[in-house]
Amino acid sequence: MTAALPPPSGKKRLFLRSWGCQMNVYDSARMADVLAPLGYAPVDAPEGADMIILNTCHIREKATEKLFSELGRLRQLKQAKQAEGGEMVLAVAGCVAQAEGAEITARAPYVDIVLGPQSYHRLPEMVARAGRTGRAVVETDFPVEEKFDFLPEISAPQGITAFLTIQEGCDKFCSFCVVPYTRGAEYSRGPAAVLAEARKLVGQGAREITLLGQNVNAYHGEGEDGREWGLARLLYALAEIPGLDRLRYTTSHPRDMDEALIAAHRDIPAVMPFLHLPVQSGSDRVLEAMNRGHTADDYLRLVDRLRAARPDLALSTDIIAGHPGETEADHEATMALIRRVGFAQAFSFKYSPRPGTPAAGAPHRVDEATKDRRLQEVQALLRDQQAEFNASLTGQTVPVLFTGAGRQAGQLSGRTPWLQPVHLPGPLSLIGATAPVFIRAGNPNSLAGELAHQEKTAA
Ligand code: 5AD
Ligand code: SF4
Repeated sequence: MTAALPPPSGKKRLFLRSWGCQMNVYDSARMADVLAPLGYAPVDAPEGADMIILNTCHIREKATEKLFSELGRLRQLKQAKQAEGGEMVLAVAGCVAQAEGAEITARAPYVDIVLGPQSYHRLPEMVARAGRTGRAVVETDFPVEEKFDFLPEISAPQGITAFLTIQEGCDKFCSFCVVPYTRGAEYSRGPAAVLAEARKLVGQGAREITLLGQNVNAYHGEGEDGREWGLARLLYALAEIPGLDRLRYTTSHPRDMDEALIAAHRDIPAVMPFLHLPVQSGSDRVLEAMNRGHTADDYLRLVDRLRAARPDLALSTDIIAGHPGETEADHEATMALIRRVGFAQAFSFKYSPRPGTPAAGAPHRVDEATKDRRLQEVQALLRDQQAEFNASLTGQTVPVLFTGAGRQAGQLSGRTPWLQPVHLPGPLSLIGATAPVFIRAGNPNSLAGELAHQEKTAA
């Protein structure tokens, strides 16, 4: 549409202003789409508009303050329109709307609609409601079950080890990460639905379930009594399901590792002694720049508490090499943290900018060659630790869940409590069972074993 053209006659004028990432641009287009059937057509200036939507972005510096000063200007346009006997619907959408909610209408009572990224499809209904009641409509709560209800039922059985999504989205806004923008605000599925799906998976043969979520230990599903369940309570309930032998969850944030969850690792035998707990960096300066909300020492103390609760706990992590501003001393601090913890497994990445994230526009970029070298150093250390951990199991007898046939005839494959793959000779009839396996060799990426004799398992 050409710049200064008014909308076709009879149409209402919709002015959309969008800040931030591509996701917001996309969402603005979606909002225009859902409003089109109501007769709204986009215009390119706010003056005289029948509806204005500010699609905000939380990663802007001082985003909230900038929003309110923009609203102050628009208020004058709205008043001018009202003075002529017209109306203007003023809406605030996007991440700031999601974060601030009713605070926006409290501070700017002339705002008609506040809606979070999960509510855009309900915009027409909200416009109607605001018009009918004359009161502001605030929709930033995420309807917990709704999104999952639209997801197709998983029909094919997943097998002995199954995944179950219990949580999506993230509110942590780490500097480098696009998830809070692409997956939206953190929300959790109700425990009743989770438990029902877990029972179904077990009915289909699952013996191990891994609970999934971008920020899974922030889980806070609403129970049928209206009270919130944390991840610990959900784990206790899942552990009661007959036939469900093993529970895992991923991915966790150190800040959400609460006392109850640590206790669950101590008290629930089905919760496996393996935890993926991303630390990203071992330098407090970088952790701060990353907006992680914890220091290296916080992480180390958390690890100590977890190991005190569950002495055989093995840890896995994520590391980013070369975040903007990372110096050689910061890199050394990361190496020191890795040495201090001793990870059984890990994922490490070279920092790469994601458009729309704060780090993408941050100064003091690390050059590619330095990033490469630091990543190699991090990976070499992590590889050594993984090999050492696997080797440490040689000669031990450990419980293995048999998950399927091995590559060769007469072979079984399975998993240890620490997620290592094990290959051993054995009958396929054991698939789905857990039995003690004597580890003959702990190789860097997998273990070789044999079914333990009774006398070996007695210890
Ligand atoms: N650059 C490098 N690694 C990243 N990760 C997320 N975003 C980036 C990025 N921009 C890594 C983090 C996270 C893992 C899933 O991916 O380590 O924990
Ligand atoms: Fe959230 Fe994890 Fe991304 Fe941080 S890295 S914003 S915790 S998903």
